[in-house]
Amino acid sequence: MRTPFVAGNWKMNKTVAEARDLVSTMGVGLKAVKGVEKVVCPPFTSLLAVANLLGGTDIGLGAQNMHWEEKGAFTGEIAPEMVKEFCKYVILGHSERRQYFGETDETVNKRVLAAQKHGIIPIVCVGETLQEYEAGKTAEVVRRQTLGALAGVEAGFAPSLVIAYEPVWAIGTGKASSGENAQHVHGQVIRPVLVELFGQETAGAIRILYGGSVTGANAAEFFSQTDIDGALVGGASLKDDFVLIAQAAAA
Ligand code: PGA
Repeated sequence: MRTPFVAGNWKMNKTVAEARDLVSTMGVGLKAVKGVEKVVCPPFTSLLAVANLLGGTDIGLGAQNMHWEEKGAFTGEIAPEMVKEFCKYVILGHSERRQYFGETDETVNKRVLAAQKHGIIPIVCVGETLQEYEAGKTAEVVRRQTLGALAGVEAGFAPSLVIAYEPVWAIGTGKASSGENAQHVHGQVIRPVLVELFGQETAGAIRILYGGSVTGANAAEFFSQTDIDGALVGGASLKDDFVLIAQAAAA
């Protein structure tokens, strides 16, 4: 009943010309995949070019971050209205933002509430570090991050939320989690938090993605799990592999 969701996080990669090339080659294969919500998230500088190429297709566009203030003296930041000019989606609270740019549960929450206010669908990232994983703190950390990010989200907006569970130790390392391990976190930690916050029915409508070294080769292992509704893909979204991942989500 939940439509599978596959998003490509391009991170800090691709000039405008390279972004155009990538979307042109990958777009053909992506468009052919039906029954899956497909989204690409290029850097801000390529949003306009990619938006022009994707116009009239069923491939959505997302930004990789967004500030919560409406406008003003925030050098280097992008406001919700600016994101909304091009994007239906925005990735929020990615672990690289938390790790390198000082984002916290509190500032992620401000961004989520700004997305809600402006009707932008947030792809909210949570996930434990290697140290936390090894200390057996996964459930505690993911629960805290999920509750923190979603504080104040209204029940009416909640069904459009997308949550991405991305264990930090699996991101860009080639060491993906196992389907079983990810299913445990999705089904035993995140979904129950969503039930607590929004009730059974709404929680059942929210997509929970897995992210961290997803490839065309391992995607099916994740998508076959009950509570894994898609993937947030980094490295493999810069290649044709992304089409294979979307195909696996459709299967
Ligand atoms: P990866 O990145 O697929 O390269 O591991 C995932 C992410 O950071 O969203």
